[in-house]
Amino acid sequence: MTEGRNFPPGFWWGAATSAYQIEGAPEADGRTRSIWDTFSHTPGRVRDGDTGDVAVEHYTRWEADLDLMAGLGLNAYRFSVSWPRVQPGGRGPANPAGLAFYDRLVDGLLERGISPLVTLYHWDLPQALEDAGGWAARDTAERFAEYARLTFDALGDRVATWTTLNEPWCSAFLGYASGDHAPGRREPAAAVRAVHHLLLGHGLAVRAMRAASPSHQLGITLNLFPVAAASAGAADTDAARRIDGLHNRLFLDPVLLGRYPADVLGDLAAVSDFAHVRDGDLDTISAPIDLLGVNYYHRHKVAAGEGSDNADVRGRTGLYPGSGDVRFVASGRPTTSMGWEVDASGLLELLVHLHVAYPPVALAVTENGAAFDDRPGDDGRVRDPDRVRFLDDHLRAAHRAIERGVDLRGYFAWSLLDNFEWAEGYSKRFGMVYVDYATQRRTLKDSARYYAETIARGGLNGRPA
Ligand code: FCB
Repeated sequence: MTEGRNFPPGFWWGAATSAYQIEGAPEADGRTRSIWDTFSHTPGRVRDGDTGDVAVEHYTRWEADLDLMAGLGLNAYRFSVSWPRVQPGGRGPANPAGLAFYDRLVDGLLERGISPLVTLYHWDLPQALEDAGGWAARDTAERFAEYARLTFDALGDRVATWTTLNEPWCSAFLGYASGDHAPGRREPAAAVRAVHHLLLGHGLAVRAMRAASPSHQLGITLNLFPVAAASAGAADTDAARRIDGLHNRLFLDPVLLGRYPADVLGDLAAVSDFAHVRDGDLDTISAPIDLLGVNYYHRHKVAAGEGSDNADVRGRTGLYPGSGDVRFVASGRPTTSMGWEVDASGLLELLVHLHVAYPPVALAVTENGAAFDDRPGDDGRVRDPDRVRFLDDHLRAAHRAIERGVDLRGYFAWSLLDNFEWAEGYSKRFGMVYVDYATQRRTLKDSARYYAETIARGGLNGRPA
């Protein structure tokens, strides 16, 4: 450790996945449809008509996948539980056959010395609950807390760390405002209600799990973006304030401060009067948490006006209710195959900002990674130098954050395996492990080897070749 870039003892060196993106087996053992089954089977919604029906067959190949993780030296794994497997239709008793899969998975992780981090909701709402109004309906929050408790009661004896929601911004705004994700609705007022009911579901779930056990680590995962103005002019600065409000503060402030940011309520006034917020809701939402999961991929630079040149946002109309007149500006940095600009300094800035601007809470980078389209060469090796560099730069940023006093508990690379990338189907490969979708064969990419070496060393030590 000559350079001193080793991480604290007990740091989680992990990888992350989610149920719908890897499991396949949509009808096994009593699972019912989720909104992503419906959406992906609706023509025109997902690129090339791809669905998660097969995905990477993790439901049957899980043991070999756990061996892969152990081989890489991971000491933590973040996965999500599929609500429609565990509680088909989103109501009623737990489904023992569905739970049994996660039972085996958790045992298999522990046998290999890998700590499980459970995400309770990574976007696969039971379709029956969407039919009853989805996240725009308050009852869905209650249903979520009930499902959380069922799952917690079954796995909590072995799983110490739980997060409720993954990226509620995506669920609300991609799902209900722009319609780019399931359930594909384009109803800005419903999106604003969805924000609240997702947050309420989080708070109710924390309360239900806390009542069962005071000693578990409970939290939520948000996707956060540093937002900068393209110029110091008043209009651009205001655009940055608004987008920071919608992406970051609309979620952070209720959870960590117990209030909605007043300026964002003002920005959204034409869309929603927030009459759906009831007395006591914000107390529930701000129940103390032990861990804030941070998913970081890139930054945003914005200006006043229309006509975004940022490939990620272009064409997604309605995504920013009340702030449609904001232009997303490209910075000219290299991009991943998602069109996301690579900028590790944004991770450092974000972690330090959370540390100084909010009450103390332990943080973990619960997702960070990049899609690049590297394929096996003639020798079978998958060379993915851009991903190696991406991981290395972001781990360096994470380490600098720790040096600056941030209480960072772990880093989870997105993703272990190539998988179903939502509306992009199988066209975007985020894995450190290459999957040949025709044969389901897994091949370590160079980035997986890089990560394994880094873990074995306990930190960063010089630049990768
Ligand atoms: C995040 C999602 C995750 C994955 C990555 C690339 O928004 O949480 O499932 O799709 O993006």
